[in-house]
Amino acid sequence: MPAVQGAAKARRFFDSIAPWYDRINARIYKREWLERVRSEIRGPRVLDVGVGTGFTTGHLADSVGIDLSMEMLRRARHRGSLVRADFMMPPFRGSAFDTIVFAGSFYYMPNPRDAAGIAVDQLRPGGRVILLSPATLLLAGFVRVFSPREYREIFASNGFRDIRYERLNRAACLVIAEKP
Ligand SMILES: C[S@@+](CC[C@H](N)C(=O)[O-])C[C@H]1O[C@@H](n2cnc3c(N)ncnc32)[C@H](O)[C@@H]1O
Repeated sequence: MPAVQGAAKARRFFDSIAPWYDRINARIYKREWLERVRSEIRGPRVLDVGVGTGFTTGHLADSVGIDLSMEMLRRARHRGSLVRADFMMPPFRGSAFDTIVFAGSFYYMPNPRDAAGIAVDQLRPGGRVILLSPATLLLAGFVRVFSPREYREIFASNGFRDIRYERLNRAACLVIAEKP
C-alpha cells in the first residue's frame, strides 16, 4: 500500500510539503515533460486536477485548478480560477471541460476507475484527459504505479477511446484518452 493514499492523507501530506514543493519539483520534474503535457492540451476550458502550485496550467487564462490542499493553492501562481475541492466530488456541472489534466495527481485518486468515470462526465464529447504519472515500479512504495494495460482498462471501461500510453523516460509516462 503506497504511503500517501486517500484524500485526508493526501491533503495533510501536501499541506505539509507545500512550502518546499516547487524546490522539490524542480529536482525531479523534467522541463520537457511539462512541455509535452502542455502541447496536448486542447480547447479553452481546461481543468487541472491537483493543480498544486500551478506548475502546468498556471499560464492559461481560462483554466480551472482544483486541489485538496489549501497550502498548495495559497502558493499557486495561476491566471485562471482556483477551487479547493476533492475531484472525486467535483463542484462543476457536467460536460464543462475540453481537457482534464492530471499532472502528478491521478494516482492519488482513491479509486482510479471511479476517477476516470468522473472525468468522462466532466468532459464535453470529443474532450480528452492527459495524465503525467510515474512509470517505474521503484516508486510503488510511495505512490500507485499503473501498467499500460491497467491504464487502458481504467479508461476503456469508462467509454474512452484512442487511449495512448507514452513512456517519457524510465520514471514517467504520459497517458492520453479521448471521450467519444
Ligand atoms: C504531486 S502534486 C502535483 C501538483 C501539480 N499538478 C504539479 O504538476 O506540480 C499532487 C496534487 O494533487 C492534489 N490532490 C490529491 N488528491 C486530490 C483530489 N482527490 N482532488 C484534488 N486534488 C488532489 C494534492 O493536494 C497535490 O497538490
